[in-house]
Amino acid sequence: MKNIDNTNEIEAKKQLNIINELKERYDSEYVRTGRRKTYHIETFGCQMNSRDSEKISGILKQIGYIETDTEDADFVLYNTCTVRENANNRVYGRLGYLGMLKKKNPDMLIAICGCMMQETTAVEKIKRSYPFVDIIFGTHNIFKLAQLIRTRLDNNNGSKQSERMVIDLWKDTDMIVENLPNDRKYPFKAGVNIIFGCNNFCSYCIVPYVRGRERSRNLEDILAEIKLLADDGVIEVMLLGQNVNSYGKNLNPQISFASLLQEIEKVNGIERIRFMTSHPKDLSQELIDVMGASKKICKHLHLPLQSGSSRLLKIMNRKYTKEDYLDLVARIRKSVPDISITTDIIVGFPGETEEDFMETMDVVKKVGFDSAFTFLYSKRTGTPAATMDDQVEEEIAKERFNRLLDAISESSAKAAGRDEHSVVDVLVEEVNSQNDSLLTGRLSNNMLVHFEGDRDLIGKIIPVYLKESKGFYYIGTPVDGEY
Ligand code: 5AD
Ligand code: SF4
Repeated sequence: MKNIDNTNEIEAKKQLNIINELKERYDSEYVRTGRRKTYHIETFGCQMNSRDSEKISGILKQIGYIETDTEDADFVLYNTCTVRENANNRVYGRLGYLGMLKKKNPDMLIAICGCMMQETTAVEKIKRSYPFVDIIFGTHNIFKLAQLIRTRLDNNNGSKQSERMVIDLWKDTDMIVENLPNDRKYPFKAGVNIIFGCNNFCSYCIVPYVRGRERSRNLEDILAEIKLLADDGVIEVMLLGQNVNSYGKNLNPQISFASLLQEIEKVNGIERIRFMTSHPKDLSQELIDVMGASKKICKHLHLPLQSGSSRLLKIMNRKYTKEDYLDLVARIRKSVPDISITTDIIVGFPGETEEDFMETMDVVKKVGFDSAFTFLYSKRTGTPAATMDDQVEEEIAKERFNRLLDAISESSAKAAGRDEHSVVDVLVEEVNSQNDSLLTGRLSNNMLVHFEGDRDLIGKIIPVYLKESKGFYYIGTPVDGEY
């Protein structure tokens, strides 16, 4: 264990040195040209990727790049997702456009990273069809970005574009390199990784193959980061992991996710704690009790169901039944009565019959989810489900998908009305993106509310009267206003 810690510290120092070296180069170029180089990151996929993009952004800013919101930049990075096939296709589509931009600006750098790059076939395709890409790296070595940039800049000799491509991909790692630069999107809320990777191997899912085995961060490192964040004005943290309920199982001594939450709860200044994602099979009674007793843990749980059919859940390798799931929801609601429960559901998993699908609809009805992400099953090469017989016809899957959407809309509209005409605490997050005379805030249960108010309120938790439910959001008034 100690050895790994040392390796990680040495690596962090090495990378910080390279960042400083590049900064000197970029600074002198700035003196020469009077212009700072720009970068743009396009992030696909989940919150883990968003968090990774903050790390990438932190390194680039430290080197001397400034951020721009278009792809007409000196350095464009795509942080990719591969959980479903269409995520890959979107990346290929956009790479064609980047190639055109690079023709106009041959000094432009293009990097692709993230989950899709952990798949050999995707990397081969990029090497073949998009040779103008400069850097390819994966999910395990983001901390090396400065080193990869330096290698690419020093490697201008190859006669062909593809010979200059720098590719650094790791199959898996036990390294967790701490204390590198970081660029938070919001000053008052922050994502904090607590566990990387996934050991569950749900039979449809590519994540364990591209994110590697579970690795928990040390408790002390997490707490130190959260204390620093709190000192820096952060009041809400979102703890991130593919399966947060597995936190601490591979640490020595072991520690539970519930105990981690209790430690975080003690950090002064942190007022809200969120986490995702939870796997139903690992959500302990201890966690439910801690949530029930907590003043800071938000009243929201994202609890992916995937299917309501016990038969399919078994084939999916989810390790719970329909009844287990319903029982879990009942226990959670008993401890935390006003909790909002959201979920992920896959439609059209191989072999799904109408009866299986009706089991899913039954759970939707019984639980009354506040909202759900619904997905058409997507075949991922390399996963056990990809070679299963009985792939469901697209037409049938789409028809079920639409029925499911209707059921979810009905249950979310019902759930959304629950807090209408009450006063709730709201974290004011930003100016409304559609109407800049309004502010947007978030309830503890993750619902949004729009209201008129002073921009100085952004970043504060204030009481807001929920005047009207609009199904997916509320219209409100701060309580010292008129209502
Ligand atoms: N097809 C469709 N949806 C999938 N998910 C994961 N893998 C697949 C797949 N092959 C969904 C699951 C998971 C969410 C992040 O993505 O519902 O919870
Ligand atoms: Fe994929 Fe299952 Fe791991 Fe979630 S728990 S990331 S669905 S393998």
